[in-house]
Amino acid sequence: MSIQTIHVRTNPEYDVTIGPGLLAECGPRLKEAVPLCHMAVVTESNVAPLYLETVKNSLLEAGYKVSTYVFPAGEGSKNFHTLSNILEFLAEEQLTRTGCVAALGGGVTGDMVGLAAALYLRGVKYVQLPTTLLAAVDSSVGGKTAIDLSAGKNLAGAFLQPAAVICDTDCLKTLPRHVFADGAAEALKTAVLSDERLFAKMEGGLRDSMLEEIVAHCVAYKAGVVERDEKEQGERKLLNLGHTIGHAIEKCSGFTIPHGHAVAAGLAIMTRATENLGWLTDGAKQTWEADRIESAVESLGLPSSTEYPPEALAKAALSDKKRAGNNITIVVPSKIGHCELKTIPVIQLQSVIEAGWALE
Ligand code: GLY
Repeated sequence: MSIQTIHVRTNPEYDVTIGPGLLAECGPRLKEAVPLCHMAVVTESNVAPLYLETVKNSLLEAGYKVSTYVFPAGEGSKNFHTLSNILEFLAEEQLTRTGCVAALGGGVTGDMVGLAAALYLRGVKYVQLPTTLLAAVDSSVGGKTAIDLSAGKNLAGAFLQPAAVICDTDCLKTLPRHVFADGAAEALKTAVLSDERLFAKMEGGLRDSMLEEIVAHCVAYKAGVVERDEKEQGERKLLNLGHTIGHAIEKCSGFTIPHGHAVAAGLAIMTRATENLGWLTDGAKQTWEADRIESAVESLGLPSSTEYPPEALAKAALSDKKRAGNNITIVVPSKIGHCELKTIPVIQLQSVIEAGWALE
């Protein structure tokens, strides 16, 4: 299998390298973006037994000084308490401004370790070593870092681009089914946003042989969006397709429903709402196939509905960070491969959710 490199022209610029077997080569591969230094590798308890030793050995062999820290796995760890522990660890290990932090793991790890890097000494370099499909296709690229607050998902964070992303696609082939499905939701979101052909490929499910191509497509699309709108002033908001309702579902569940599963249900609800509210443009009406999105969600092992009622979801979305005053911008899937932003009064959100909530 070939190794692909996608360059992201943000500030700083960086490469995303995608291919099999890359964790065992991460030391030499990082040397250009991160000259030899003290590397603090932070990961979680599910990932550590699988990959920490491999990463540590590769970094040591390349000449890095290495410290490691492992926190308990799960969205429940994405909070101030764990963030504080990571910061204390970096200080105890005496990481200086020439050091670097490596986030080894999925979305929780990448988001929280990125935030630790943004805060520690007012900012040190960090690199992303994604090990889940969700992190590979979405969260490891683009520099969004965050932790959750009890009021909602990702409410405290910063923008900080990584110095490099190394995505070992072998990690994606051994993921538990529900963790894989979680990432498939973000990949499907990208297909609905950007490419009908990618969508068509994913409709019948996601095979291992498709992974490199799908990750590369999603990263290339996201890189373009982030280059044009690094701080989410406009176009980047499109990447939130399914996320306003998805985040509300996560919050209503006390963060027990995983992110991708919640986003999939959010995508399906927005799809039905778009049709039922007559928001399709005339041109889009001819190519619109709402059933295809719903079927694709289900064929990837993801939910297309939620038990939480529209009123509870709308209330949960009041603290969504995409809200601006009394308005909120939602993403409308106007056809497969093209979506639009629509700003609505926040009090209208419940009726939008109601319009797409029930399965037809
Ligand atoms: N996950 C959406 C974004 O990075 O903007």
